[in-house]
Amino acid sequence: MKHWESFLAPYKQAISELKVKLKGMRGQFELNSSHSPIEFVTGRVKPIASILDKANQKGIPLDRLEEEMQDIAGMRIMCQFVDDIHTVVNLLRNRNDLEIVEERDYISHKKTSGYRSYHVVISYPVQTIHGEKKILAEIQIRTLAMNFWATIEHSLNYKYKGAFPTDIQMRLQRAAEAAFRLDEEMSLIRGEIQEAQAFFSRKKELKQEEKN
Ligand code: GTP
Ligand code: MG
Repeated sequence: MKHWESFLAPYKQAISELKVKLKGMRGQFELNSSHSPIEFVTGRVKPIASILDKANQKGIPLDRLEEEMQDIAGMRIMCQFVDDIHTVVNLLRNRNDLEIVEERDYISHKKTSGYRSYHVVISYPVQTIHGEKKILAEIQIRTLAMNFWATIEHSLNYKYKGAFPTDIQMRLQRAAEAAFRLDEEMSLIRGEIQEAQAFFSRKKELKQEEKN
């Protein structure tokens, strides 16, 4: 157990740091009074039981986890609009504190399940008392609609262990199409939505100024 604790420590540190950094990006857009391409951010370290399950399924030897399991540290960035995803990926590409080692575009090429998201695998340097240690982390970037679908599909997957009854399978496919159309519709009225959001955040600022 002690072994797992020290193995996971740099991953935990990376997740706390990345949360601060990515949430910080959102704050900077707010300061700028410009639309934030980041709606919210979550992060987690994979539970030990899931690491063992996945290693078992994929035939990854436990002494190769660092190199071969890319999502022991996992971050998710949720966006309002599909275009925001590309803005976020570019922001990540321009950072000096991480290196992108792989990109998987499941938006241009959705998975057969109906899953859509943009995945970026990064190499992230963690500063430890023994020096710098680079770890791999997976960042999934998706819209709120993509996240809704993936969350529901994940729970159902858990229940049915991947073997969905055909009616559920069909409904999930239809839900994936509906989520796709929702993203399209929102993109079309993006201008309107952003004007309204800018108006409300200005109103909030004015109220705050009145109070001060
Ligand atoms: P993994 O063995 O899961 O790492 O697959 P991979 O190496 O091909 O990586 P990929 O980028 O395809 O997917 C990794 C992660 O994306 C998963 O752990 C999920 O979080 C998410 N994901 C991928 N496909 C699906 C899907 O069909 N449904 C849901 N809900 N999530 C998915
Ligand atoms: Mg993977």
